[in-house]
Order: sequence, then structure tokens, then C-alpha cells
Amino acid sequence: MSYVIGVDLGTSAVKVLLVDREGTVAAEASRSYPLFHEHSGWSEQRSDDWVDATIEALHELTAESGIASDTIEGISFSGQMHGLVLLDGEGNPVRNAILWNDTRTTEQCREIERTLGDKLLTVTRNPALEGFTLPKILWVRKHEPETFAKAKLFLLPKDYLRYRLTGELHMDYSDAAGTLLLDVAGKEWSSEVLEAFGLPASFCPPLVESHELVGTLLPQLAERSGLTANTKVFAGGADNACGAIGSGILSEGLTLCSIGTSGVILSYENDKDKDFAGKVHFFNHGKENSFYAMGVTLAAGYSLSWFKKTFAPNESFDELLNGVGDIKPGASGLIFTPYLVGERTPHADPNIRASFIGVDGSHERIHFARAVMEGITFSLNESVDMFRQAGKTVDTVISIGGGAQNPVWLQMQADIFGAKVVALENEQGPGLGAAMLAAYGSGWFDSLESCAHKFVKHADSYSPQPEAVAAYEGIFKVYQQVYEQTRSMNEALVPYRA
Ligand code: XUL
Repeated sequence: MSYVIGVDLGTSAVKVLLVDREGTVAAEASRSYPLFHEHSGWSEQRSDDWVDATIEALHELTAESGIASDTIEGISFSGQMHGLVLLDGEGNPVRNAILWNDTRTTEQCREIERTLGDKLLTVTRNPALEGFTLPKILWVRKHEPETFAKAKLFLLPKDYLRYRLTGELHMDYSDAAGTLLLDVAGKEWSSEVLEAFGLPASFCPPLVESHELVGTLLPQLAERSGLTANTKVFAGGADNACGAIGSGILSEGLTLCSIGTSGVILSYENDKDKDFAGKVHFFNHGKENSFYAMGVTLAAGYSLSWFKKTFAPNESFDELLNGVGDIKPGASGLIFTPYLVGERTPHADPNIRASFIGVDGSHERIHFARAVMEGITFSLNESVDMFRQAGKTVDTVISIGGGAQNPVWLQMQADIFGAKVVALENEQGPGLGAAMLAAYGSGWFDSLESCAHKFVKHADSYSPQPEAVAAYEGIFKVYQQVYEQTRSMNEALVPYRA
């Protein structure tokens, strides 16, 4: 038997999967690393923590699986998107990485809009959002000029990890699409954007396809990881692209709902010119010459973990959610908006905050728990709604992540999206997508689709229940009003925040 490894470099941890030719996960390991929030809205990590944690996890994977290292043919990566790693001329980071969920760059976003005008949407295909990479580059240049003067090139998180493992500098299209420096449809760094901000072409690494072979492991790092230096390294992709690949979202008409810390509704797109007017993200896929549109709820799973941490710190999620299926759709008139850390889609707004609307003396904690799950799903439904308005059909949604672990939540998704919701067997998310890129890159399959055919297995499916669908249609309209009605109140509260 031969194997590949998928590395999922997440925000709180790295997870590594050893996968055989049948798509079965033979072993897995993970290591966490710290996040630093030095000021409100800041979110940073030490780039070398990713490298150390990955090497430790790979070492555990190879040691505990007992599999001969020369049967492991290839390795590839899925990465948290947008994070800025700046390297000096020697290839060392000049400061901590600034992550996708850092919101310090509002001023730089406005500067990008002013400078690029229409080009922002016609070239980069996306609005300027705090989480994206170019605003972070401009922030460092303005606020830390001495540090910026040392920076010769930028990378994204998984590209830095791969660089350390191979000594080779690359970035794949699916991740480059989240920088605001890529001509997304033209698949090249945009000289117009680079010139507009006075950045040299040498600031960007060479671009590659996600399944492309980019090198082999450096001997010393191979040894520390328990792998051979012949192990082939394939570029990999953005976590959302890899989540889509690992869920088989590789053809027109398929939609993904992924509820992790953040939540995503993602729809495959063949047409490079499809115009969503910047209302949703439009990125290159990890499958060659294809794309996807995506809406993001910043605090999806995070809303439920915040709720548990705050109101049920000593209970498990199962205990917290016990009985949530007995509460009717609408949580007896209680609505939650999941804006704990601001929002991206459809309201790109770093200052909006969450609300419970309609609190009643009869509500118990379980109503609040249900309202939180519904609020997260309503927020994702705003993206489903926009896809439909743009003419896309959303009738089958593959659901992954925390939201797919609970049958009540899966049924709720079917009822709120008004679509069939399908869970996956043995779901592994982006890590499996990364392993599939290595499997396809290694020549095990003639396409990513045939790899998905073997590796991605559907489990239970949930059909919308007409009564619940009707109830949710009414409640969703009320939910949609909460943003406008609470916006100015939240603006007024900004000075009082910690
Ligand atoms: C996507 C985004 C998040 C991160 C999470 O635009 O910011 O989904 O990729 O890792």
C-alpha cells in the first residue's frame, strides 16, 4: 500500500492525515499553537510555531502508524487564508504573521478602494476587507516602517510552512486569490495593483497550481518528521478550496456549507466572468481553471463555543444541546445575530456586534442555544440567498465541520436553506482535500474528480420539512432587519469597548 499526507494548517492547530489509495485515513495527529491578541481586533501567530507544530505532528503520525516512510509518496497542504508573512532577504520572518481574523486595517481598506476604484472588482474580483492580505501589507508599511524596510517578499501561512520544509518559494492560485494582488480571472499577479501601491513584482512569489509538484523535503526536516527526503511536495491550496475538494465540490451546481470557527457557504463556478458585484468572495479553486464564490460568517462555530464557554463552561456540547431538537423552529420568538467579532457577508462591518432579540420571561437556556444555532444558519442563508439571486441553483448542500456533527443542526440547515443537506462519512474537511491534491499530483488518479469519486463518501441526507421551511421564511425576514436596526447603536458603543 502507498500513502499520501494532507496537512491542514488551521488557526488554532495543525492536523495531519495519512491517507491510503482507497481514501481511508490510516492515521492522524495534531498540534495546537497560540494566537496573540495584543490589542482588541488584533490576531497574530508566530510563523515558526506552525513549522515546529507540523514537524511534531508528522513525527507522531509516522511513529505511531508504524508505516514504512518510503511508502509515503507525497504531501500537500491546506492553509488558513490571507495571513501575512513578511520575509527578509535571508528568508526569515520580519515580524509575527497577521491573520485572516485580524481587523486592524479598516483605514487601509478605504485607501485601497480610493486608489483602485473599479479595478478592485474587475481585477481582484473582491471587495477590500480587513481580513485580506494587501491591507495588512499597507498597515505594516505605515505603522512599522523600519520592519517593512526589511521585507523583501510576502507569503501566506501554508506557503511559509512549505518553504521551510522544501526551501522553495511558491504560492498557489487559490490562496493568492485572497490577497487582493491577483488578477483572479487572468491568473497572474496584477501589475496594475502592484504599481498602484508601489510594490515591486519581486514582492510576490511564483504562482503554481495546487496539485503542482514544487519540490521534495529538505533532508534534515524529513528526518525530524520521520519521512524520507524523496517525499514529493505538492503546492496545496486555501482551506476553503481544500474543504471544497475534500467534499467533492468539483462541478457546477454543488454547494458547500462549512461551519468551523468561521462559517462558509461556497458554490463551484466554471465561469471566470461570473459577476457577483463583490457581494460574495470570488476566488480561484484548487482545481485547475475553475473558481468558487463564497460568503463568510465570521463567528459561526465560534458563536456556539462562546455561548458554551460563557453560560455552560463545565458542560460538554452534547449536554448543552440536549433537548435542542424539542424546541420548535424559531426558539419561541428568540433571534440571535452572530456578529460577535463583526461580520463579512453580507454586511462587511467590523463594528457590528451580536444581539438577542425577543427575550421573553419564558425562555430557558435551551431556547438561547437553539437561537444561536439558528442565527448562525440564518447568517449563512444570506449567502445562499445571494447565490440564488445571482442565478445559481442551490438544491443540494454538502455540510461539513461542527455544524455537521449534530443531526438537529443538519435538519435545521435543510429547513433554513430550503435545500437537501448531505453529511459525509468520516468527514475530514480541508485535510482530506490536501491529501487529494497529493494523490492526484502523484498520479494516482487522472483527475481530482475521479479521486473524489473514490475518497468522498456521502452519509445521511436531510430534506427540508415544509412546515419548518415556512416558519423559517418568516423569521429570516425579521432576522435580516436586525443588522440595519442595530448598526448605529453598535457604532455608538465602539468607544466603550475594551
Ligand atoms: C476566508 C477566511 C477564513 C479563513 C479561515 O476568506 O478568511 O475562512 O480561511 O482559515
